[in-house]
Amino acid sequence: MSKKLFIETLGCAMNSRDSEHMIAQLKEKEGYETTDDMPSADLILINTCSVREKPVSKLFSELGVFNKKKKESAKIGVCGCTASHLGDEILKRAPYVSFVLGARNVSRIAEVLHKDKAVEVDINYDESEFAFDDYRTSPYKAYINISIGCDKSCTFCIVPKTRGDEISIPDELIIREAQKVVDSGAKEIFLLGQNVNNYGRRFSGEHEKVNFTELLRRLSKIEKLERIRFTSPHPFHMDDEFIEEFAKNPKICKSMHMPLQSGSTKVLKDMKRGYSKEWFLNRVEKLRAECPEVSISTDIIVAFPGESDTDFEDTIDVMKQVEFDQIFSFKYSPRPETEAESFTNVVDEDIASMRLTTLQDLNTKIIDDKNATQLGRTYKVYFEALNRDYFVSGRTDNNLVVKVKGSDELLGQFRDVKITSIGRTILTGEIVA
Ligand code: 5AD
Ligand code: SF4
Repeated sequence: MSKKLFIETLGCAMNSRDSEHMIAQLKEKEGYETTDDMPSADLILINTCSVREKPVSKLFSELGVFNKKKKESAKIGVCGCTASHLGDEILKRAPYVSFVLGARNVSRIAEVLHKDKAVEVDINYDESEFAFDDYRTSPYKAYINISIGCDKSCTFCIVPKTRGDEISIPDELIIREAQKVVDSGAKEIFLLGQNVNNYGRRFSGEHEKVNFTELLRRLSKIEKLERIRFTSPHPFHMDDEFIEEFAKNPKICKSMHMPLQSGSTKVLKDMKRGYSKEWFLNRVEKLRAECPEVSISTDIIVAFPGESDTDFEDTIDVMKQVEFDQIFSFKYSPRPETEAESFTNVVDEDIASMRLTTLQDLNTKIIDDKNATQLGRTYKVYFEALNRDYFVSGRTDNNLVVKVKGSDELLGQFRDVKITSIGRTILTGEIVA
């Protein structure tokens, strides 16, 4: 009987892909099969996120539960960003953990597994050319890494400390991977990097100069590949050439994530984001001029140290001007080893909560108004998930989630869908062609 692996993945798409990498290694080299039933697993992995404080505290309570309920012989491994930044402290706080494996070291899972109390968290470890085996959660859409690490030094962000310096993966490896997933039936690829449009700044070895725009051009030549998505681009690197390619290349999905973080030029400076309010608005204007149908999503942090009422008003002003299609909003959470951790002009907790509520209420209104205009429209939807009650869901080119009544025959298929009813996060429709 094969050994069973239970894996829980927290955090971003990058972590989801890292989990796929680890599953691939463990299947291929150690004969594991995945299970959803933790108590029957021989190996339990938690792939952690450390971008904010909350998931980190959750980790230790969860580890306690896993330890109580697991099979006696089962091993527990802590992987990912929290593993990178806490390292052997995890073994001190939870001595029943067998090993700790950092976000930059996932390729070593099969080897670390056999070293009791191993702590492998070297953020300079270079796995940019490592050939991971095949394992993908979805046969319809494939995550593909294009770089590892991040070279920026945003003062709030722990990621450069957990994932190390940025190294681009050679484009020939990315193209080969994309060709492989398309040959096996996927029609969509999702390119992943901490800062995708900084692609090509540094490779491990000698490499031809290729930037992100050129990578997109090369990938879109793959026949039978229909959709390309990516996350996250950085507003600082959104030059005209990139926006123009985005707009005119029919394979690139018309949905752009533009992490604003703050609408105040002063706060952006304190965050070391490298752009101003005006630059951000200028990029949105250019993008919408070139590509009117684009949907724009963003990340916003409220109550960064020193954020005044006027600074917050600037964020609200950008929200009103841009009318984002989706926002991910957070209260600032101080993180260890970041520059902002030592900033003393902390915003009062009540004010922080009020600002978050104000922002989210405004967003709800914007989204409701936008959604109301969707009724009766027809979109091409790529179906990728089977839901309960005989519904199948998928996404439009501009990233709206749409469900229709149907069976698994629709999975991996494109259909024209007319929107018949509106929900805040998901639209319902019927197939017209
Ligand atoms: N506090 C709050 N939010 C944060 N993010 C990153 N670091 C922090 C922090 N210290 C948010 C940013 C980023 C998203 C992935 O998480 O908005 O874009
Ligand atoms: Fe963090 Fe900034 Fe890098 Fe994004 S670009 S991962 S926010 S340091």
